[in-house]
Amino acid sequence: MHFIIYYKEHAKGRYSLENVEGIINGIRWRTFNGDCRKILKDYIKAESIDCIFTSPPYYNLRSYGDKVRVDGNEGKWKYSNRKIATKDEIGIACNYEKYLSDLSEVFSVCYRVLKKDKFMFINIGNKHVDRECIDYSFDLITIAKHIGFVHCDIIIWIKKNSPPPGNHKEIYLGNGWEYILMFAKGKSYKINEDKYIDTGSLFKCKQCGSDDIVHFKSKPNYFFSNVGCFGNAKKKNSHPAPFPETVPRFCLAIGAKEHELILDPFVGSGTTLKVALDMHINCIGCELISKLYSDLIENLEKISKF
Ligand SMILES: C[S@@+](CC[C@H](N)C(=O)[O-])C[C@H]1O[C@@H](n2cnc3c(N)ncnc32)[C@H](O)[C@@H]1O
Repeated sequence: MHFIIYYKEHAKGRYSLENVEGIINGIRWRTFNGDCRKILKDYIKAESIDCIFTSPPYYNLRSYGDKVRVDGNEGKWKYSNRKIATKDEIGIACNYEKYLSDLSEVFSVCYRVLKKDKFMFINIGNKHVDRECIDYSFDLITIAKHIGFVHCDIIIWIKKNSPPPGNHKEIYLGNGWEYILMFAKGKSYKINEDKYIDTGSLFKCKQCGSDDIVHFKSKPNYFFSNVGCFGNAKKKNSHPAPFPETVPRFCLAIGAKEHELILDPFVGSGTTLKVALDMHINCIGCELISKLYSDLIENLEKISKF
């Protein structure tokens, strides 16, 4: 195990950036604290990434920088409703057009760094505002296609326990699923063969017992469904919006291979990196909020000890 921490000053002196790197069992991880748009533009080589998996910030839900610990160093975090954006933070204290144009900038830099015919997966849920369901997916698909991505599919993952609608159960249904928008940079893309998929209990839904997203018929006629029960994220995670590990695991399984290099531009608590390392895939993650970034490094340090 090899763990290096160092700080880099941007070559052109525009901003300073924290960059932490490590190697676990020969697999390399690298994290950056800052705005993913600048990082991908200035630090990541064009056509160097084999797969992108990410979950962008929601529109106008919360500022990820706006949290306070309520019970010491373990567990619980509380978010205020101030909705004040940290500098360069996407999704908060802005109108919907600005949100889309910020994400369009992110998709453009993602397009630049992604290799040809490789995949970008975008995990995004719907949201209700004033009795209306805001469905981001069609706008995000339009933006990505405008940049040059091919829209390959929509994967729907079902949450094991739908978050309840709280005081609004006469208005809203429990929010029980999210999209994973699947894009490729070019039309000659190819979904991995089954030898890369860990089919064990990983994709087995404990609640309904189905084989989730992975459906095998006898070879060579197997296929993978675009709907699956992926469960819930572990509650002990201090980030407010982690997804279950099965979400990136499935996407990396169909879209990346061992020893390749993947990227999560909105890495949060690092679920994508943890899964990638477990699958022997090199990985890069960016996180803007310094407090979340130090948690991320703590998490990666913990993994490095095993
Ligand atoms: C939906 S969360 C990702 C959660 C993550 N998938 C996990 O499992 O913990 C989106 C993250 O993007 C971060 N973020 C917001 N604007 C950013 C920017 N411009 N550059 C990098 N990260 C940003 C937020 O702080 C937040 O942690």
